[in-house]
Amino acid sequence: MDIMEQNVSITNGIITFDMMAAMCHNNRGIGYQGDLPWPKLRADFEYYLKTTSTHKKDSSLMSIHVHGRKTWAVCTDFQASYGGVYHIVCSQSRDPSNKTHPNLLTVAGSVPEALENIADLDRKGKVDSVWIMGGAGIYQECLSHPLCGRIYLTHVYKDFPSDKFFPPFDDNFREVKNDATSDTYHEEDGISFEFKVYQNIRKCNTSI
Ligand SMILES: NC(=O)c1ccc[n+]([C@@H]2O[C@H](COP(=O)([O-])OP(=O)(O)OC[C@H]3O[C@@H](n4cnc5c(N)ncnc54)[C@H](OP(=O)(O)O)[C@@H]3O)[C@@H](O)[C@H]2O)c1
Repeated sequence: MDIMEQNVSITNGIITFDMMAAMCHNNRGIGYQGDLPWPKLRADFEYYLKTTSTHKKDSSLMSIHVHGRKTWAVCTDFQASYGGVYHIVCSQSRDPSNKTHPNLLTVAGSVPEALENIADLDRKGKVDSVWIMGGAGIYQECLSHPLCGRIYLTHVYKDFPSDKFFPPFDDNFREVKNDATSDTYHEEDGISFEFKVYQNIRKCNTSI
């Protein structure tokens, strides 16, 4: 089974989602002062782009990325536009200064509202895959959601100061073979990192 089939978002006709994140292996840090804790890791960025874009030939199918407002604010135009990717931003305040972009579908007041929007699009046959892109609170909420399928988690084997962290997850997430790439271990500028995948063995087939 390849990556497109894994995050095909449909389990018996019901939409599911996966998470994409990178964290410091030791302290689980994902962010520092609004940015990533580490200098840019080229292979990780390429893996993120390849894994979370649409792989279907049908260009009307969307890969939908769900972000918190601050994570969305630092997405570059390129990250916002590549490979059939569209976005839903979570913001309780629905801050009017929220970054606009042609591929921004909507601003949702909560994660359930974002997932309901996605379910509507899915019923219209428009969704290829769904990715939770952080930050910390969004990851935390989605980890305990029954429709959370997989965590695509890059482990960075070097310590960096961090102020945002990936939440711990329990044994219901089991490490599985990474079918998104066979090239899972990298080193750049003295920083080694590894692409791991964890499958939720309790993912259930209830509706969003
Ligand atoms: N390493 C990684 O994989 C990774 C991934 C993503 C982000 N990051 C890093 O993490 C940091 C940003 O993450 P963050 O946790 O600080 O912020 P964030 O989740 O991106 O944004 C926080 C804002 O999102 C909105 N929000 C969050 N949870 C919500 C919910 N459940 N319902 C409705 N709105 C919600 C709120 O917006 P309002 O204030 O408008 O209500 C909140 O203030 C940056 O440093 C970034 O570089 C790292």
